[in-house]
Amino acid sequence: MPYNFDQTPSREGTYSFKWEKYKGQDIVPAWVADTEFRCADPILDAIHQRADHGNLGYVLPNHYQPAIDAVARWLKDKHNWHIDKQWLVWMPGVVPAFNAACKAYCEAGDKVMVQVPNYPPLLAAPKLNNLERVDIDTIEVDGRFTLDLDQLAQAAQDPACKLLVLCNPMNPVGSVLNADELARIAEICNTNDVVLCSDEIHCDLILDDNATHIPAGREAALKDNSVTLMAASKTFNIAGLGASFAIIPNATLRQQFVSAAAGMVPWVNQLGLLATEAAFTQCDDWHQAQLAYLRDNRDLLVSRINAIEGLSVKSQEATFLAWVDASGLGVDDVQKWAEQRGVGPSAGVDFGAPDHFRINFGCSRAMLTEILDRLASE
Ligand SMILES: Cc1ncc(COP(=O)(O)O)c(C=O)c1O
Repeated sequence: MPYNFDQTPSREGTYSFKWEKYKGQDIVPAWVADTEFRCADPILDAIHQRADHGNLGYVLPNHYQPAIDAVARWLKDKHNWHIDKQWLVWMPGVVPAFNAACKAYCEAGDKVMVQVPNYPPLLAAPKLNNLERVDIDTIEVDGRFTLDLDQLAQAAQDPACKLLVLCNPMNPVGSVLNADELARIAEICNTNDVVLCSDEIHCDLILDDNATHIPAGREAALKDNSVTLMAASKTFNIAGLGASFAIIPNATLRQQFVSAAAGMVPWVNQLGLLATEAAFTQCDDWHQAQLAYLRDNRDLLVSRINAIEGLSVKSQEATFLAWVDASGLGVDDVQKWAEQRGVGPSAGVDFGAPDHFRINFGCSRAMLTEILDRLASE
C-alpha cells in the first residue's frame, strides 16, 4: 500500500509544542522530537472507534490484554526478544520512567552515570532526584560516535555510582550500540553493581542497514540487571498520547520500580493503549515505508548540511534527529545563527554541547528542503 509522507497535516491551531514556540515568526520549527507525519490509518481508526463508542472511563492497563499482547508480538518479531508478559510495566512516558528508576535504585547522595551530550530531561533526572550526575563522554571511533567505555569503566568503580541511564539509540548523536559495546557495558555494570536503565524510545527508527538495535534486557548478561524503556510514540507519532512501557525481567528490580512510581504516576490512558496496540499489530508496512522516507531525508540533509561552510553532520545510524556541529561557523551563538536564517532547531547547549544544534528531519521533503535552503542562505 502506498503511503504519502509528502503530505502532512497543518498543525496550525493544534497547540503543537513544536509549532507554538515560533508562532507568528518566520521561523520553521525543527526542534521537538515528534514528526509532521499523519499517523497510520489503523491508529486513527482505533481512536475514532473508541470515540464513537462514547465512554472514556478508567481502563487499567494491566487488564487491557490486547495491548500487552501487541507489545510482546512487536518485541518478538522486530527485536527477537521473547518476553514474559509479567515483565511489562506501563508508564505514561519514558521521562517519568527513567526518573522512577533514579528513585528506585538510588538513595540521596548516590551517583548516576549519564552519557553527554544527551536528551535534556535525561541530563536533568539525577538532580531532580537529589542525586549526583557523573558525565560520560561521547567519543568518535572509526568515524562513528559512541560512548566512552573506558571512562565508563573508570567511573563505575566509585561505589556511590548505582545507576547508568543510557540512551540507545543515542539522542542526539544517532548511534546504535553494537553487540561488543553492549557486552562491555553489561560487564561494567555487573562488576560494579550498577543497574542499567536503558532508554530505547528510538529503537524502531534504525536507518542504517549495518546497525541492529539490541534491547538491553534481551542480553543474558543484563536480564537481571536492567530496565528497558520503550514506546510506540516516536516511531508512530503518538507521543502526545503518553503511552510507554518498561520491560523489567528481574522481579525485585520490577517491584522497586513499581513502588517508586506508586501514587505519583498515572495509568496510561486508554487512547494510548489503543494506539500502541494498533501500531504494534497493524502498521508494519507503514513503519517500513516511513523508514525509507526518513532514510532519504537523512541523506538529503547530510549532503546539503555538509555543503554549508561552517557546518558538519554525520550520517547517523538511527532517529530522525541530526546532530549538527556548527563550531566551524565561528559565532558565539549557533542557535541564534540558525534562527536568524529562519530555522528553529533544538539548541545544543541544552544537550551539553553549545556549538551544536539538532535538526528534526521527521517532516515532508518539502519542509526539509525549506529548512536546508534557509540554512544555506547568506
Ligand atoms: C531519548 C528520549 N527519551 C525520552 C523522550 C520522551 O519520552 P516521553 O515523551 O515518553 O516521556 C524523548 C523525546 O524526545 C527522547 O528523545
